[in-house]
Amino acid sequence: MKTYMMALGGAGLLLGVSVAAALAQTESPTVPPDPPKFDAQGQVDYVGVADILEFKALPEYHEPDWVTKNFVDKGKLPPVKDRLPKEPMVYKTGNMVDGVGVYGDTMRHVIGGRPEGWNYIGGQSQGWGGIDIGLSECLTRSGPLFQIKADELEPLPNLAKSWEWSEDGHKLTMHLIEGAKWSDGAPFGADDLMFYWQDNVNDPNVTPLNGATPGTFGEGTTLEKIDDYTVVWTFKQPFAKQYLYQMAYGTFCPGPAHILKPQHPKYSKNTYEQYKNAFPPEYMNIPVMGAWVPVEYRPDDIIVMRRNPYYWKVDEKGNQLPYLNEMHYKLSTWADRDVQAVAGSGDFSNLEQPESFVEALKRSASPDAPARLEFGPRIIGYSLYPNYSANGWGEPDERGQAVRDLNRNDHFRKAVTEAVDRARLGQSLVKGPFTAIYPGGIYSGTTYYDKDSTAYYPFNLESAKAELAEAGLKDTDGNGIVNFPAGTAGGKDVEVTLLVNGDYQTDKSLADGIVQMMEPLGIRVILNTVDGKQRDALAQAGKFDWMVLRNQEELTSVVQKTVNLAPVGPQTSAFHRAGKDGQLDLLPFEQQLVDIVNKFIASSDNVERKDLMKQYQKIYTDNVYGVGLVQYPGALIINKRFANIPKGTPINLFNWAEDSIIRERVFVPTDKQGKYELHADTLPGAPGSAGPVN
Ligand code: GLA
Repeated sequence: MKTYMMALGGAGLLLGVSVAAALAQTESPTVPPDPPKFDAQGQVDYVGVADILEFKALPEYHEPDWVTKNFVDKGKLPPVKDRLPKEPMVYKTGNMVDGVGVYGDTMRHVIGGRPEGWNYIGGQSQGWGGIDIGLSECLTRSGPLFQIKADELEPLPNLAKSWEWSEDGHKLTMHLIEGAKWSDGAPFGADDLMFYWQDNVNDPNVTPLNGATPGTFGEGTTLEKIDDYTVVWTFKQPFAKQYLYQMAYGTFCPGPAHILKPQHPKYSKNTYEQYKNAFPPEYMNIPVMGAWVPVEYRPDDIIVMRRNPYYWKVDEKGNQLPYLNEMHYKLSTWADRDVQAVAGSGDFSNLEQPESFVEALKRSASPDAPARLEFGPRIIGYSLYPNYSANGWGEPDERGQAVRDLNRNDHFRKAVTEAVDRARLGQSLVKGPFTAIYPGGIYSGTTYYDKDSTAYYPFNLESAKAELAEAGLKDTDGNGIVNFPAGTAGGKDVEVTLLVNGDYQTDKSLADGIVQMMEPLGIRVILNTVDGKQRDALAQAGKFDWMVLRNQEELTSVVQKTVNLAPVGPQTSAFHRAGKDGQLDLLPFEQQLVDIVNKFIASSDNVERKDLMKQYQKIYTDNVYGVGLVQYPGALIINKRFANIPKGTPINLFNWAEDSIIRERVFVPTDKQGKYELHADTLPGAPGSAGPVN
């Protein structure tokens, strides 16, 4: 259907414009085309939570022989039964595809990021690629949920081994694993949670990584310690079961309070900056609850981790996990991760950059290829996000402010989306049936997607130009670029900066595509390509006009990171945060999205939740909240020597595959073990000391 509209940008705008141009055509949205057929390879074996794990004491426990011989027998370490909690987490053999494992060997990761330091809860990144996922254990766990039956879907217990709701649904009592220890032997308990909550999440001067803010658990939420192993949450919303997902990676993963707290400004003379940076990458043996502890760091080369002697998880035979003694994170590039995993010099990759697909597929097709490669569903995707704040977030200059105002204009966003030729963009990444047109919002092929609720504005430059005119933009100086309306930003050319993570080829390719596609529309896009660390910092600070972003789990699983679906709190959204006055200047349709998301969080009725997400998708895509770009599958590449890799593990559904494969129960059969351990027979040393000990 075509609608004919008069450009209503004010009479002045019409002067000197031909009647034909004023009678521009804008196109109505349609439903998106069905994605080309592409079958995911691995079939998942669905189970219930209780099939995966339980917490219980076992009659006996075991550890690698060298730990007993070199450490326990020499009096350097208590016996394994005393290092484990009263009731350790026990992984059920029935859910381990290759069964109970054996000790030994190393998983060699390659990553493209670089560690800022070890203060994860103070806001420092460790360089991604599974490092922080492995170091941090969180109250609940979400990665392995890809294998949970739909009717039993609920986060896995983890540091919280069980929980119950009060009758009125406002209080959630959580029972923590009892007697578990940090990797240096210090007790873990409610004090670690309270330090994280009070002095990090709720301290406005600290910005924990992954966006944990009070709003992540609903404004007004409180957390209290009852005793060392019991805490109580009080939520405004009754039965807000959805928040259990927010307690998984990475938003409720407490740090070692016994080490961090003495550096926090509230308890020391440190500034906040000093607190954040108190544990640089060189600081070794940071206490963790995860299965491996950093023991060696060579800048731009490698991070080595050794097994945590106090790890609190076992298999059904009582073998303390992990099975793998060592973890490597080679510091290289993300593209090199694919190359090395396929070649066998690395062990693991999430093949997520389509530019590498064809080569990786070719090389892993041969029967003697060292790695197996399994494609999953199309759950990797990118969007272009406008900065929606018009009240000061990121302190824009005059031009920046004028762009924010445009970003908030429906016609402007429609113009942008209609100027994007998604089919071409997808094919420019990789030829063939991999990429699909992505209108934005919830991904097709996922549980909450509803095609009929999805508005798709197909590529149509003519209509895009008409929308731009509707937004009041016109090329007044005839140089091919539209100008800001007179009186705004000096009536200059409309220039928009696009924030790009230069660590990934895909981000760069898509950004280049956007620059090219905006030009005929009359918008000049200027790339701000920086490394991942800087991108994260600029995005956090609101210093961008537009950014191109690989979407996260909220648009695939919907139940994980749900609060990111709309600006539910002043600091929770990636592209719309409060201005200096602490206020969010939500557009009416954003308020609708917020209301829907809050209702979704409060509801446990699956029919209602499905319906709410249909409404969400409709409002999101009708209004082009984010400009969807492409959607495509990813593949898990893993060296063939590893056992216990669950079937059909997606690379990012409820979390990244590094979490989903449950690395602590992955092993290498004895006859396949390589000689990759750099610090064989050693264990992590004391916090801050130089390295491992033997
Ligand atoms: C980066 C990588 C992903 C994944 C995550 C884990 O973002 O690109 O493939 O490894 O880190 O946090």
